[in-house]
Amino acid sequence: MAPSNFNLKDVVRPNIWALDPYRCARDDYWEGILIDANENGFGTCINLDDSEISLPKPKPNDKDMNSDTHIERYPDPRQLDFKTLFAKFRGLSSPNGMFVGVGSDESIDIIMRVFGVPGKDKILVTPPTYGMYSVCAATNDLGVVKVPLLLPNFQLDVPKVKEALKNDPSIKLVLLCSPGNPTGSCITKNDIREILEFEDFKGIVVVDEAYIDFVEENESKGSVATWVNKYPNLIVTQTLSKSFGLAGIRCGIAITSDEIAAIINKTKAPYNVSTPASLIARKALSDESIAKMKENIGKIIEERTKLINTFKSLDGVGEILGTNDGNFILVQVVNKNGVPSSNRANKIYKGMANNEKVVVRYRGNEYGCQGGLRITIGNVEDNVVLVEKFKKLLNETIDEE
Ligand SMILES: Cc1ncc(COP(=O)(O)O)c(C=O)c1O
Repeated sequence: MAPSNFNLKDVVRPNIWALDPYRCARDDYWEGILIDANENGFGTCINLDDSEISLPKPKPNDKDMNSDTHIERYPDPRQLDFKTLFAKFRGLSSPNGMFVGVGSDESIDIIMRVFGVPGKDKILVTPPTYGMYSVCAATNDLGVVKVPLLLPNFQLDVPKVKEALKNDPSIKLVLLCSPGNPTGSCITKNDIREILEFEDFKGIVVVDEAYIDFVEENESKGSVATWVNKYPNLIVTQTLSKSFGLAGIRCGIAITSDEIAAIINKTKAPYNVSTPASLIARKALSDESIAKMKENIGKIIEERTKLINTFKSLDGVGEILGTNDGNFILVQVVNKNGVPSSNRANKIYKGMANNEKVVVRYRGNEYGCQGGLRITIGNVEDNVVLVEKFKKLLNETIDEE
């Protein structure tokens, strides 16, 4: 059960609670001669017959001002069609408890803006974790409390998180990344539950599930999105950027209670999701697209296993850190004595990018990631090149320490 003393009004910023949302005529009326929003009634300047651009076109004398076929019109502010499809896909009871934004990055930012009073409130993060949480906190003038994950498997230090929450009532948000970036490790459902049910915390628990579709679920790990019906203090963020292969359209979804969603939705910019993005996002939820997405996940997991085994066998690589639940692995580079070496990892990173045109991500400065390179699972051909170039750089750097 959620803490009995959870009261949403106490957690939302007072100015946001009191906010009178921006309303457009289009919230109520979509048909007829639409001269309410200062759009361009002569149509778009783009030639829609251009074969490089494929968008639904208005039919001649079309009086139906559906924004799907009229990009000179503003998009649907509520994105209800997309939400309905997404709720069905995720097995959620209703599309009402959702926010759709410009990637998860917008979800993270708007959550901070809704709950964190600038210059006063704080968020709690668990390093190593996604860097945008702290960047976003800084732009919103929120403090950041850090409770590092437990090594070696990057699990939540539940007693320390609880202690921090108990000691500091200005912490409004706990941001948990599961699977974690750059750790690749899911946080166990039990640990997430412990924080959600912690009586001494009256704030919101955000679980970032950007990589959730790459998890091979079992009793202890997997999505907690459907828990939003049970926990009024939970927000789960997901995205179409990863498993769906749609990073370019910028579409993220926050799943939560109807009450929290209503507050977030009244805070957002009215037309934050563009019509082309919405069209593509809805297409991604067709049976055919979902089947393709699942097929690609299968291939990524297969390649992930292959790469883990290959990297483990290389001289100069120590552990593959974490539990590898995402679409990337965190490879630990060691020196000739078998000691994790961020110096050598950084040289490999730079050499690969500058000389071999293979760009991975150096993470050696992150807590618990000494010698760490985060490597996205590419396609089969890319992975062959990756291994070949990585071996070359290992050879070139072997005697440098
Ligand atoms: C953990 C995590 N959350 C959120 C994001 C941002 O996702 P989006 O592309 O939906 O903004 C990323 C992107 O890499 C990520 O790693």
